[in-house]
Amino acid sequence: MAVLYHLLLPLVLLLLPLASSSSAGDRAALLALKGAVTGDPASVLSAWSSSDPDHCHWRGVTCHPSSSAVAAIDLPAASLSGTLPALLPPRLLRLDLSGNNFSGPIPAAFLASATLRALNLTSNRLSGPIPFPPSSNSSSSSSPPCPALAHLRLAGNFLVGEIPSAVAQCRSLRVLDVSRNVLEGAVPRALGRLAALRALDVSRNSLTDRIPPELGNCRDLAVLVLTNLTASPGDQPEFNAFLGGLPPEVVTNPALEVLWAPRANFDGRLPSYRNGSCRLRAVNLGQNYIGGPVPKWLGECGDLAFLDLSSNSLEGSMPAELRIGCMQYLNVSQNLLSGPLLSPVEGKCSSCLVDDDVVIQYYEGLVGIALIGNPFGSVLGDITKAALHDFSNNGFSGALPSLNLHLVGNYSYGLLLNSNMFNSTLSGGFFGFCKAASGVAVNLSGNQLSGSLDMLSSCTSLQSFEAGYNKFDGSIFPGIGDLHLLRVLVLRANNLSGEIPVRFGDLAALEVLDLSKNSVAGILPSHLADASRLKVVMLDHNRISGSIPPSFIELAQLSVFDVSFNNLSGDIPYLRHSADCSFFVGNRLLSRCLGPNASAPPSISTNHQKWTQRLGGHMTKSKYLVVIIAASATALVSFVVAVLLFFVCERRKRAKIENFKKKAVVTFADAPAEINYDSIIQATSNFSIQNLIGTGGFGATYKAELAPGYLVAVKRLAMGRFQGLQQFDAEIATLGRIRHKNLVTLIGYHIGESDTFLIYNYLPGGNLESFIHEMGSRQVSWAEVYTIAMDVAQALAFLHGSCTPRIIHRDIKPSNILLDEDLNAYLSDFGLARLMEVTQTHATTDVAGTFGYVAPEYATTCRVSDKSDVYSFGVVLLELMSGKRSLDPSFSQFGDGFTIVSWGRMLMQEDRTSEFFSPGLWDTSPKDRLTEMLKIAISCTSESLAVRLSMRQVAARLKQLRNEQ
Ligand SMILES: *[C@@H]1O[C@H](CO)[C@@H](O)[C@H](O)[C@H]1NC(C)=O
Ligand SMILES: *[C@@H]1O[C@H](CO)[C@@H](O)[C@H](O)[C@H]1NC(C)=O
Ligand SMILES: *[C@@H]1O[C@H](CO)[C@@H](O)[C@H](O)[C@H]1NC(C)=O
Ligand SMILES: *[C@@H]1O[C@H](CO)[C@@H](O)[C@H](O)[C@H]1NC(C)=O
Repeated sequence: MAVLYHLLLPLVLLLLPLASSSSAGDRAALLALKGAVTGDPASVLSAWSSSDPDHCHWRGVTCHPSSSAVAAIDLPAASLSGTLPALLPPRLLRLDLSGNNFSGPIPAAFLASATLRALNLTSNRLSGPIPFPPSSNSSSSSSPPCPALAHLRLAGNFLVGEIPSAVAQCRSLRVLDVSRNVLEGAVPRALGRLAALRALDVSRNSLTDRIPPELGNCRDLAVLVLTNLTASPGDQPEFNAFLGGLPPEVVTNPALEVLWAPRANFDGRLPSYRNGSCRLRAVNLGQNYIGGPVPKWLGECGDLAFLDLSSNSLEGSMPAELRIGCMQYLNVSQNLLSGPLLSPVEGKCSSCLVDDDVVIQYYEGLVGIALIGNPFGSVLGDITKAALHDFSNNGFSGALPSLNLHLVGNYSYGLLLNSNMFNSTLSGGFFGFCKAASGVAVNLSGNQLSGSLDMLSSCTSLQSFEAGYNKFDGSIFPGIGDLHLLRVLVLRANNLSGEIPVRFGDLAALEVLDLSKNSVAGILPSHLADASRLKVVMLDHNRISGSIPPSFIELAQLSVFDVSFNNLSGDIPYLRHSADCSFFVGNRLLSRCLGPNASAPPSISTNHQKWTQRLGGHMTKSKYLVVIIAASATALVSFVVAVLLFFVCERRKRAKIENFKKKAVVTFADAPAEINYDSIIQATSNFSIQNLIGTGGFGATYKAELAPGYLVAVKRLAMGRFQGLQQFDAEIATLGRIRHKNLVTLIGYHIGESDTFLIYNYLPGGNLESFIHEMGSRQVSWAEVYTIAMDVAQALAFLHGSCTPRIIHRDIKPSNILLDEDLNAYLSDFGLARLMEVTQTHATTDVAGTFGYVAPEYATTCRVSDKSDVYSFGVVLLELMSGKRSLDPSFSQFGDGFTIVSWGRMLMQEDRTSEFFSPGLWDTSPKDRLTEMLKIAISCTSESLAVRLSMRQVAARLKQLRNEQ
């Protein structure tokens, strides 16, 4: 008894003051949170009231057992807006405010809590840097700032700056997710000190630099996500671009299960050797620049189910150790692999289940989405049951492999071997996988395969078979009529002879039949038209004779029917959607094709028209070929994709049309009343050429006088297929908020079906391109050059540094710099590169800039950073001082690829700088300052990102030039 008393008393004494003071602190913190919330449309916090004594029952609040100390605040997706208060309940373990609308900075107090274990602020609108006390090596060990923090999720905000090394002071950290922000700099080495780290996601930021090998010290690291490509165009794009290769320590970390770094700019090789066991399940390193061989040790990774190494520079042969039959997804397409594709070692697949929630969550999120993103996945239906092995576009040679599937369950299976150098025949062993699969798509196109195709009929689960551009010969085996699931059969450009088997008509599922460019003879069987789903029939360049059976009229979905260059005779039946007389040419005895009914009545909405629209207008025969070839590229092709797209588009369109009909012009704050749709159309004379004042990558610009003396510039956007109205709205609203004295002002915009345009203030002084052009004939002063340079530098420094989110222009060039009467310069077209990217269905990953101005690293890797703008600015500066263009004809004497940058550098090295400047300018200017400006421009156009200045440094150095005056 006494013992118990002695034990309990100190405890009670300890708890008493804590309990009472914590209660007050808890309430104060909760009310501070409520006080900081400015928007609560769903009245989630309405019951949080100082008059209610029992805060443990407030919505979203959980208290510690048998106390009134708050243990958790869970208010995910509660539509709350406002800022975050600095105060937290003193014993809080978990704070989940994800999916709200909180803005402003993350209070440093959140990361200094002694108790907090999980902080989830994902998907808000938080800005500023990730707060942390500066990392101190010595004293901090006594009291780490965040001893308990295990889950830190800050994804999907507008956080800027670098990932602070001091995060590594949170020694309990298991999950660190800072993806989808605007973070820059490197992944800090210090993260290697996080011994408990299980998952690190830094994707979709603007990170650069090398991946620190120290990450290999995180002995528990199971999930590493360095980049993540967007599945839908509305998503935040990926701008991470790392340097060098992936450190071997990281790749061979024995704990690693998911390694995700597609299109991350990695070069180097994969480690050829590893020590210890391998737990890898999913590896995605597609679209990098990785060379060397595919490592043999991957064969030891028994759980490896997903491996994407596509679009790299891998060489050598495919290791036979790899357990291909056990892999759900294997993609090594678009490499330089060669040699034979050996039939892999057979044997049972291991099935070690993932037992960690964090890993499961990431694995499913990444692999699941990767399979959906693959057209194959969506065609094959249930994604967990689709398997794909893609070896296409390499130099594999020799015999076709015999692959077997050992996956448990009924899988749809795609095997792509196209565009290689396989030169065997089609043996029975090849189709071994057919028995285990519920549906099969095979692409063998573009090889040197020969012999007969008779074995085809042994694969009854075949849905798509493409084997164009080979050397198959003999006649088409009639047994093909037994392939009831067959939807696509492409045998174009082989040496096939014989007749079209009548039994093709039995293929009830057949949609695409392409036998063109063979030596098929005989007649067109009337029964063929019983394959009622046929959409594409290409029989051109054969020796088919007789007449076209009238039964083809019945094919309601037939949109391509090409029988050109045969020996057909008789009349051309009326085919509903056959657009083009060129489908019938080259048949001497065929009666004349009566006019292109290409302009078929628009009321018949068909797939064909969808295709037509997608390809932008009237479709010619060659474009049909493009469709077919594009379709072939996605194996189980099929129009299912098209049909899905069609439905999605239709649904989107309907929603959009409501908006379009309004013909509304949205304006920003200070816009005058004269602006509306009709006034714009009228003032531009319906975008007549007389009002055209400029054209550019994003569209043409027109001048419009809305009221006497009130002029605006209307930029009509050249939109491709448009999607994502909300995304457009969001982007444009951001642009509308931006105000700077050297940026053109976005006054308003209109989104419509026929035209989408942006309205800017009008600048009467033309653009810098003409200014530079006229420098030869007009005296330009140092003051003018200096002001223009300074104006543009300040505008750019503002876009890079002071805007949230930060804007990278991507297309700096003289024609995008406008002038007013006093030769003040204004930057235009900022934000449009991104606007177009996020609102077009096929977001281009192409370089948005203009040849001659694009930074070398941007041109070669398509990856953009603020430093690429600096490069373009440097080029403009060089032009402005010399009066020459970036690719001036006078440079041709120096050979290909010689630009104004090379010229400036050459003259500088040869100590002939005075020759660089436009003669009038050199004679009348302070020579030291002009030379200094040239030096600035040369540093801006350095190839090394490290040497290249930042825009802020440029602006500062230019400013100094004035002070010296
Ligand atoms: C966030 O706030 C914006 C306006 O600031 C509003 O349009 C949007 O609906 C809000 N989102 C949520 C999830 O409440
Ligand atoms: C936020 O993160 C915590 C900790 O990782 C997690 O338990 C919680 O489910 C997350 N909330 C949401 C809405 O995902
Ligand atoms: C990767 O991107 C997809 C698609 O945007 C997203 O749903 C998923 O959550 C991302 N995964 C990670 C781990 O960042
Ligand atoms: C395939 O090509 C290889 C050389 O690349 C040759 O040795 C072999 O005989 C060819 N096989 C056939 C069936 O043509």
